[in-house]
Amino acid sequence: MPTVLNDAKLDALLARLHGESIDQEAAIERYYFHERTGAWTGMEPRDVAFMADKLEALDKDKAEFCYMICRAIGARRIVEAGTSFGVSTLYLAAAVRDNGGGTVFAAEREPTKVAIARANYAAAGLTQFIELHEADVTLACRDFAGPIDFVLFDIWTDAVRPVLDVVLPRLRPGAIICADNTGSERARTTYGAMFEILEDPHAFRTMTLPFKGGLEMAVKL
Ligand SMILES: C[S@@+](CC[C@H](N)C(=O)[O-])C[C@H]1O[C@@H](n2cnc3c(N)ncnc32)[C@H](O)[C@@H]1O
Repeated sequence: MPTVLNDAKLDALLARLHGESIDQEAAIERYYFHERTGAWTGMEPRDVAFMADKLEALDKDKAEFCYMICRAIGARRIVEAGTSFGVSTLYLAAAVRDNGGGTVFAAEREPTKVAIARANYAAAGLTQFIELHEADVTLACRDFAGPIDFVLFDIWTDAVRPVLDVVLPRLRPGAIICADNTGSERARTTYGAMFEILEDPHAFRTMTLPFKGGLEMAVKL
């Protein structure tokens, strides 16, 4: 049976990366639920340090869903906020390639992760469809011109609204925004500044899809 991506080499690479990411989940859970002390008020420097070598890849079904949506809307200009080792970028770049070409803008501020992401892009033969910046995504995305077809937020939530403010005027009608892990009350609070925009019924329609942890999908009107 053909896979969603229908690309055996890419599927094999992604299977390895998803496997490595799943293998790290227990350590991440242990840190956040058992080892970390103090109330949660967002990512602190100690959390950023702990996550510096973690893949935290977007779940496979969510990433495949993003690929499918990007194919459905013919996405050729995509912004990915939160890159890590580049797993979700690979799905988005495959969609851009299969749509006839374009660019996935990606940004990651951890230098080691950037190097690994670049190697993954090369291994998949998708480098030409990806513009990866070693930078804070909010600053870097200012130079990415519209029209933007698709945006993925898979990043610490404090960075979401600043990026949204930059890309908002460049979204084309019918553009899709997806944001990971919007399913819980806590997430709705930390994503609050994003929802102030996405819940304006004159600008967007949005829905939390029932993937694990929730995946937000918003349509720009
Ligand atoms: C959940 S991971 C992204 C996983 C990725 N989407 C994938 O599927 O492989 C989030 C990443 O965002 C990066 N990050 C967080 N805040 C950032 C910022 N303001 N600018 C750039 N990168 C940031 C973190 O270093 C981390 O690697």
